[in-house]
Amino acid sequence: MDSIGPVGLQQGEGAPCYPQESLPCPSDSSELVQECLRQFKVTGAQLRQIQASLLSSMEQALGGQVSPASAVRMLPTYVGSTPHGTEQGDFLVLELGATGASLRILWVTLTGTEGHRMEPRSQEFVIPQEVMLGPGQQLFDFAACCLSEFLDALPVGNQNLQLGFSFSFPCHQTGLDRSTLISWTKGFRCSGVEGQDVVQLLRDAIQRQGAYSIDVVAVVNDTVGTMMGCEPGVGPCEVGLVVDTGTNACYMEEARHVAVLDEDRGRVCVSVEWGSFGDDGALGPVLTTFDCALDRESLNPGAQRFEKMIGGLYLGELVRLVLAHLAQCGVLFGGCTSPALLSRGSILLEHVAEMEDPSAGAARVHTILQDLGLSPGASDVELVQHVCAAVCMRAAQLCAAALAAVLSHLQHSREQQTLQITVATGGRVFERQPRFLSILQETVMFLAPECDVSFIPSLDGGGRGVAMVTAVAARLAAHRRLLEETLAPFRLNREQLAAVQAQMREAMTKGLRGEASSLRMLPTYVRATPDGSERGDFLALDLGGTNFRVLLVRVATGGVQITNQVYSIPECVAQGSGQQLFDHIVDCIVDFQQKQGLSGQSLPLGFTFSFPCRQLGLDQGILLNWTKGFNASDCEGQDVVCLLREAIGRRKAVELNVVAIVNDTVGTMMSCGYEDPHCEVGLIVGTGTNACYMEELRNVAGVAGDSGHMCINMEWGAFGDDGSLGVLSTCFDARVDQASINPGKQRFEKMISGMYLGEIVRHILLHLTSLGVLFRGQQTQCLQTRDIFKTKFLSEIESDSLALRQVRAILEDLGLPLTSDDALMVLEVCQAVSQRAAQLCGAGVAAVVEKIRENRGLEELTVSVGVDGTLYKLHPHFSSLVAATVRELAPRCVVTFLQSEDGSGKGAALVTAVACRLAQTACV
Ligand code: G6P
Ligand code: BGC
Ligand code: BGC
Repeated sequence: MDSIGPVGLQQGEGAPCYPQESLPCPSDSSELVQECLRQFKVTGAQLRQIQASLLSSMEQALGGQVSPASAVRMLPTYVGSTPHGTEQGDFLVLELGATGASLRILWVTLTGTEGHRMEPRSQEFVIPQEVMLGPGQQLFDFAACCLSEFLDALPVGNQNLQLGFSFSFPCHQTGLDRSTLISWTKGFRCSGVEGQDVVQLLRDAIQRQGAYSIDVVAVVNDTVGTMMGCEPGVGPCEVGLVVDTGTNACYMEEARHVAVLDEDRGRVCVSVEWGSFGDDGALGPVLTTFDCALDRESLNPGAQRFEKMIGGLYLGELVRLVLAHLAQCGVLFGGCTSPALLSRGSILLEHVAEMEDPSAGAARVHTILQDLGLSPGASDVELVQHVCAAVCMRAAQLCAAALAAVLSHLQHSREQQTLQITVATGGRVFERQPRFLSILQETVMFLAPECDVSFIPSLDGGGRGVAMVTAVAARLAAHRRLLEETLAPFRLNREQLAAVQAQMREAMTKGLRGEASSLRMLPTYVRATPDGSERGDFLALDLGGTNFRVLLVRVATGGVQITNQVYSIPECVAQGSGQQLFDHIVDCIVDFQQKQGLSGQSLPLGFTFSFPCRQLGLDQGILLNWTKGFNASDCEGQDVVCLLREAIGRRKAVELNVVAIVNDTVGTMMSCGYEDPHCEVGLIVGTGTNACYMEELRNVAGVAGDSGHMCINMEWGAFGDDGSLGVLSTCFDARVDQASINPGKQRFEKMISGMYLGEIVRHILLHLTSLGVLFRGQQTQCLQTRDIFKTKFLSEIESDSLALRQVRAILEDLGLPLTSDDALMVLEVCQAVSQRAAQLCGAGVAAVVEKIRENRGLEELTVSVGVDGTLYKLHPHFSSLVAATVRELAPRCVVTFLQSEDGSGKGAALVTAVACRLAQTACV
């Protein structure tokens, strides 16, 4: 198949297509000839005008301005760099659309070594006319069938084949393997394809065919294949130019200039789609009456007006229309026409190329015209040659004007005085008409003198370039699979979450009964939420979260007033001796009292102490074990209130009245309970995680009394420490646990809370780097550093308002140099880790609220949960994921989440206030 056929024109068997009345014949025949040829002359000024108007249309489209009849489309292609020559492997390439009524299949082997090239195998298949104009499925089935036929002749066996799809029509790409056809051009008009993803259509057809296992990994415009397949010349080849049946170009654009892309670094290849230039009327002055006639009769009237003056599909037809007109006016062939001359598509590109070529000689022109049923005289032959030359010259000059627009854009945007650039050329117009390239070159020099352009023909008609893109796409797809495999254990389904809920529920019951359980279910001696009648001034301490705080809490008729100050606890103190820690705490209290003018007063004090304590009363709490980053010696097994009192004793000057010790969950519940009496659960998701709730006293072993309620501190962070979470725990969780100061402990907490999520992410990133999926496989010192990836980065990275480039900036600040593909993957890792955390937390809350509902024998429970903690509050999606999981797993509970605004210090003061109120009542 080597002809560019008449496929773009509607076939009206032998019927004249040229409306006579639109072109009158002047009486003077030489004037008529001159007039016809003059119409095809484009002046230098007109070319400059086209260049300027195309340039402005390109820049508008890049800037995201879409006019209704947008002139050029500027479609990003997802190809981000020119090849580096290391791509290797065997690839199938299927080309559809570039070469008119034929489909080409290639088997390309990339060797990975520059300069060493293997000839591809290829085969062309003629696409029947009815397939080009029939239903889309038929076209794709035809392609799949040709693929099988091609592969049958190759010894490829059963291997999994990777295919690059060169599809040369305007498409909106949304990925390397996703591309929606905007509209057919050239000779195609298959139904049901516009608006569809052509990769999917091809995959479906291959599947229906069923003969080979072929993975369509990339879709590429022919211009991109042309650019990517060019052997680099002086510099890298950054423009691809195709003039085949249609015409178009692509080039490497700065990503930040492409408004539709959310990217400010690097380059991206943009397909100009200049064939549609002029569809908004901009070509008016250079259009001839023949162009208008050709357009009217085409498959897509009004569209691709520029392409119809340049593309090989149309050049023969333009020549035919001129010759027919001249013959009908009596200037050619003695005024005789022939049925062939009056039939659409009878003159093809190769006829024009031959007739125009002076070296072919008059005899060849004669033969071609005779084959058209004409009897040319010597002067006819010469005139026909003039017509062909005029049509072709105009095509090359217009093409040059468009290319000059691209080049001047590049030169300006790169701020270079002289742009040195290589343009890869492809397409049969270049192959057939050697003069086309020389006119093009000359005109480009005239229109863009500041650009030093080398033209290099692409290899294998662009097939090699398509294989290059396919190799890159295949690598990216393999990376995606590895990412998915790595993250799969983090994606929990409903059954897994329901199982966590059930296990939690069982562990709660056992813990309450005093049986072996990873949940300690510690009684807190808080029996009631505040009733609003509490009054007085209280001191509160708040230790165990991100901040250590001392507070003055004034509970009065008008509400609660808080004054507080944050003090730091240096790591050496948190992990030093117990005495040192408690002395430091008392120092902070003394400082606070002095600053607040409270020295000498002995206010009742509530102590929020956010670690597991076995309480024997409201003011007695034996520290069972440290968690989070604390590890002060000689404290575990001791009564924390005593340790505080001893420190007060050592600091002789102060007197303090420690009334209550309160876990932060309890403080949060009490604080929210002051506003909402339904608040019977407290939840913390911060540095650590935990929950408390109001349990029936009769269910609590070890505390006297059968009626009423008691708040239970679940210490759920330790859930799973008996191994029950083993199936859900990933190798990354195991690494984080092993590296912590309390290996084997707080396993649930280590999957959920802020102290650990960043570390989990860091371990996953290390793993993906070792697989070569991230950061080009280069391990950095930074990523090896413990705790470098803070949990607050997850909150920042996952924020919806952040563009991918900001994600990149965050990671680059950490010293991680990454591409936008890397940034996207890091985002997905963060999402998977925080989503699992929120869902596990939700499963825990579901177990708690269901237990309260069943305790009370209710069909439906309405309950509020008071929540605090930096992760819960700062992460953009955590809270909604927790709520969604609870709705799913505890459908009979209507749960409202209340965020505590004042921290749990306020709650500790309220517990103290309640205790003081009760003590006073008891005294009365
Ligand atoms: C509240 C309390 C803290 C508590 C914290 C948990 O605000 O006042 O004592 O531990 O929440 O959050 P964090 O993120 O600070 O660990
Ligand atoms: C298409 C382009 C293609 C060009 C050259 C045009 O009709 O719209 O996508 O690159 O022809 O084949
Ligand atoms: C502690 C809990 C505390 C939680 C939230 C955990 O590590 O064991 O007592 O409530 O962190 O701060």
